[in-house]
Amino acid sequence: MNSKKNLILIGMMGSGKSTIGSLISKKLNIRFIDIDNILENETKMKIAEIFEKKGENFFRSLEEKITLKLLNSTNNVISLGGGAFINEKIRKEVLKNNFSFWLNCEAQEIVKRIKKSKKRPIASRLNDSELTKLIAERTKIYSKAQFKINCHKLKKAEIVKKILKIYECN
Ligand code: S3P
Repeated sequence: MNSKKNLILIGMMGSGKSTIGSLISKKLNIRFIDIDNILENETKMKIAEIFEKKGENFFRSLEEKITLKLLNSTNNVISLGGGAFINEKIRKEVLKNNFSFWLNCEAQEIVKRIKKSKKRPIASRLNDSELTKLIAERTKIYSKAQFKINCHKLKKAEIVKKILKIYECN
């Protein structure tokens, strides 16, 4: 089988990267890699526990190491953690030889989805206006992705369809 560049999903926590990634990988019948899951398997800890016990710096350096290693492959659907694309090394590698899709959702919707999340240490330590500010800052960086998918008011199946249409003609 011909191997194709990875299809990488980028975006804020709660933008649907894992759900959409899993649906796309089933449609394409290729492997789905959820980096947060890999980090949890590797450390045998949940993300929140890694932050709590080891700190954010430890998490970020492990995230960098594992993400860069996994980017060294082809023909996968990969869901990055929300902060991964902010890392310059990861961003450069993603943009070098992969198809990158930014799942762009409305800030208000994101805040609503993640503010009560116990699984997301970044979200639980920020209030609504701090989260909105973080989204605005990250938006500038997420917008460097190759393709922007506006997800507002779209159903999951519609988002999947939009992404597949672009992926299949590239
Ligand atoms: C983070 C997002 C999370 C996870 C960690 C940090 C972030 O991933 O990697 O909690 O900095 O935005 P999801 O985007 O999959 O929730």
